[in-house]
Amino acid sequence: MTKHLISSADLSRAEVEDILETAASMHDLQRREVKKVPTLRGRTIINFFFEDSTRTRSSFEIAGKWMSADTINLSAKGSSTSKGESLRDTAMTVDAMAVDALVIRHNASGACHQVAQWVRCSVINAGDGTHEHPTQALLDAYTLRTRLGDLDGKHVVIVGDLTHSRVFRSNVITLKTLGARVTVVAPPTLMPSGIGAWSAADGFATSWDLDPVLDGEGEHGPVDAVMMLRVQRERMSGGYFPTAREYTVGYGLTRDRLERLVARNDDVLVLHPGPMNRGLEIAPEAADSPQSVVLDQVSAGVAVRMAVLYHLLAGEETPAPVPAATAATAATAATAATAATAPSEGAVR
Ligand code: CP
Repeated sequence: MTKHLISSADLSRAEVEDILETAASMHDLQRREVKKVPTLRGRTIINFFFEDSTRTRSSFEIAGKWMSADTINLSAKGSSTSKGESLRDTAMTVDAMAVDALVIRHNASGACHQVAQWVRCSVINAGDGTHEHPTQALLDAYTLRTRLGDLDGKHVVIVGDLTHSRVFRSNVITLKTLGARVTVVAPPTLMPSGIGAWSAADGFATSWDLDPVLDGEGEHGPVDAVMMLRVQRERMSGGYFPTAREYTVGYGLTRDRLERLVARNDDVLVLHPGPMNRGLEIAPEAADSPQSVVLDQVSAGVAVRMAVLYHLLAGEETPAPVPAATAATAATAATAATAATAPSEGAVR
């Protein structure tokens, strides 16, 4: 695996599968009483979130802490960014403190790629503008594989605000990497320009019409999972649809649509990356249905982020030597912790 995780395209199929297998052993750890392994002891991870987040920020922090890394959270407000410091100066300042990884969420597409050019440490993209959110795609793949098994040939339908969705962009890449069949559905105003050439090159289908896709009409075929996307009003500067009601009627996963899906396949899965606009892109009956794996996605987020941190950071030299006495104590504790809580042989160092 490369030093950074900026795009889902950075990962080969073998690398995605490796991460998902590691995540499975990390998920076992999540179910134990003592959720701590010494894997990343001595590593320092900074979670720098220039945009709001609940799931990604807290799961990266939990992931780091459970692997015994020192994790520090920074946000734009409360950092020198609010005094006008540039992204470059902020990134280089934090990097100069000999941290091992910067987990970055930023509202500018390409920000993480740019930071990776300026710093020595690993950079993990926790969502950059409308570009990508690779760890979200990995946790979605983990959730799907847990329920559906191998994703080769499985049909995943992604619905909603494609134009502004980094989740969609990363998911198309990861799902295609794993051999899934993907159809994306959006109103014409929320379908990215140039998607025709992109979908032809990468082998996914597009549609403006949700019901024939969900009903599996013609070449669409049966649906294994539906991923509803959040309508990102904060990124919209104009009127992308006339009213919320019309959006729901055309593109929402309503109770009626869920019932029709379940009538065709009662094992169908409903995903949403969160946060959800209940009543807009997804009805509460769908969000809380037995088919919904929304909270499974959240749970997988911790395991998958542990796996990503493990693959990027474990095995590198510990950045600062630990004083001898502390080292001996820590080594004893680490040995005990490894014996008591190691998720699997290969996953803990
Ligand atoms: N899915 C996702 O990125 O959620 P947060 O914005 O809460 O991190």
